[in-house]
Order: sequence, then C-alpha cells, then structure tokens
Amino acid sequence: MPKSMDRLNNSVVFEFVLLGLSGSWETKVFLTLTFSLLYLGIILGNFFIVFLVIADSHLHSPMYFLLANLSLIDVGLSTTAVPKMISDLLIEYKAISFQGCMTQICFIHVMGGVEMVLLIAMAFDRYAAICKPLHYLTIMSPKRCVLFVILAWVTGVIHAMSQFSFVINLSFCGSHKIDSFYCDFPRIIQLACADATKFEFVIAANSGFMTMATFFLLLLSYVFILVTVWKRSSGDLAKALVTLSAHITVVVLFFTPCMFLYVWPFPATSLDKYLFIVDFAITPVLNHVIYTLRNKDMKIAIKRFSKQKYYVRFC
Ligand SMILES: *[C@@H]1O[C@H](CO)[C@@H](O)[C@H](O)[C@H]1NC(C)=O
Repeated sequence: MPKSMDRLNNSVVFEFVLLGLSGSWETKVFLTLTFSLLYLGIILGNFFIVFLVIADSHLHSPMYFLLANLSLIDVGLSTTAVPKMISDLLIEYKAISFQGCMTQICFIHVMGGVEMVLLIAMAFDRYAAICKPLHYLTIMSPKRCVLFVILAWVTGVIHAMSQFSFVINLSFCGSHKIDSFYCDFPRIIQLACADATKFEFVIAANSGFMTMATFFLLLLSYVFILVTVWKRSSGDLAKALVTLSAHITVVVLFFTPCMFLYVWPFPATSLDKYLFIVDFAITPVLNHVIYTLRNKDMKIAIKRFSKQKYYVRFC
C-alpha cells in the first residue's frame, strides 16, 4: 500500500477535490460552450494537420514531420485537462481520485516535456533552413529527425518521472482541496503532511529550470536567425520577422504560465490556474492556425486536397 494512503486522523486520502473555475451559472455555461468549441477546434485542426502531412507527399519534409508530431502532442496535452475541466464546470462537487490525479500529473509533464523539446527541434529546423540552406537536407536528415522525436519522448518521460518519484511517496493530511481545475505538483505538494520546502526545490530545479532554459534557448535562436537574415539582406528581414513573430508569440504565450507556476512555486494568488488555460486550450489552437493558415505549402496542400475530393465526387 502506498504511503499516501496511510491512515491519518482516521481519514484516508482516496480522492482530491478540485475547486475549479468559479463564477455565476451564466458564466459557467458560457465557459462550457467556449471551451467545448476550443477543444473541438484543437481536435479537428490538429488531426487535420497530421492527416495532411501523412497524405500529401509534398509535405514529407522534416519541418512538417515535426509539425505533425507537435500537433499530436497538442491534442494530448489539452486532452489531459480540458475534457475534465469542461465536465466539471457544471458540477458542484468536482472530485478526482488519487490515481486519476497522479495520472494527470504524469501525462501533463510527459507531454509538456515532449512539447518543449519539439519546439526546440522546430527552431533548430528553421535555423538550418534559413541560415544554412545549402546544407539543410544533410543537417535535418530523416535519421536526425527521428532522433529529435525520440529525444523529445525520452526527455519528457525522464522529466516527469524524476519529479513523480518524489511526490508518489508523500502522505497527505488535512485539506484535500486543490484550488485549480487540474492536478499538478505545486498544488499537490501544498497538501502534503511533510515539510514542502524540499519538494518545492525539486520542482523549481526540474520543471522551473527546464522551462526557463527552453524559453531562453528558443528566444535566442529566433534572435540569431533574425540577425543572420538581417546581415544577408535587410529586405528579407521584414519577411522573416513576419514569419517568426507568430512563432515567438506562441512561445511567449506557452512559457509564461509555466514560468509563473514552476519557477516561483506556491503562488499567493490563484492566477496560475487562469494562466494555464492558455497552455491547455489557447496555444494548441494557435499552433495549427499559425502553421497552416500562414504557411504557403500548407495552403497549397489544402487546395490540392480539396481538388482531389472534388474529382472523386464528380468523376
Ligand atoms: C513524427 O516524426 C517522425 C520523425 O521525423 C516521423 O517519422 C513521424 O511520421 C512523425 N509523426 C507524424 C504523426 O507525422
């Protein structure tokens, strides 16, 4: 029997209670509708990208393989939290079992870790394409591309497990209330009987460091790309800036809540739970909007795809 299920004050922790999002009944109905639509957009949009990349041989290149992988991770990341959040919105007593809570934490951190490494790989891919165009295909060889994806998953699993091994052994006493709509390390640690300072350090050293390092690495690589383009010809700078500004926006949006939560754990406010909605519901939508609607090859592929359907229907 895990220690966390020890009897304490004759009570056993088998579940946590999520306080979720608060508001009037109208607000909750509004949020339910909004998030349902967003979630539908995430599922349809991202699976459409995966389908397009697999089906269209013109998109069989490193950038689109990484993009398809990112789309799957986006679906995974929002699926760990959004459906539960939606179904909880209209329920008064929002419970989550101990196992459910631990599973959710695990998935969030595996997916989050994979997403971060994939974003780095995609920035590296753009660096190779823009700054070393003649060597692009040797730098981003199919083998290296597969290696990036494997590295992303290995990093995600190690990242999640290294923190999880600390939390799984915690005992919980007192309140079981989590002031959020999902389970995560900083919130769970607050409920533990043991002194939380040690665990706070583990989280900051792992999740906190990983987010900060990835964030600055990504920003640096985008600046590096822009400077390279600018040195070559200042005319191209405007074009590159337009493309990369979308990526930089997503990176800033995705990383701000993470840094807010993990670099300074134990937030005094519950602002972080509202911020995290961005990571679960907004950036997964933005990613596929940015990469498909603002991308020439993708637009052509969509046209090609719709023409194909046209022929099938009328011939
Ligand atoms: C993910 O990336 C790998 C390596 O490039 C690729 O073989 C695979 O097809 C990608 N997955 C999807 C769903 O496109």
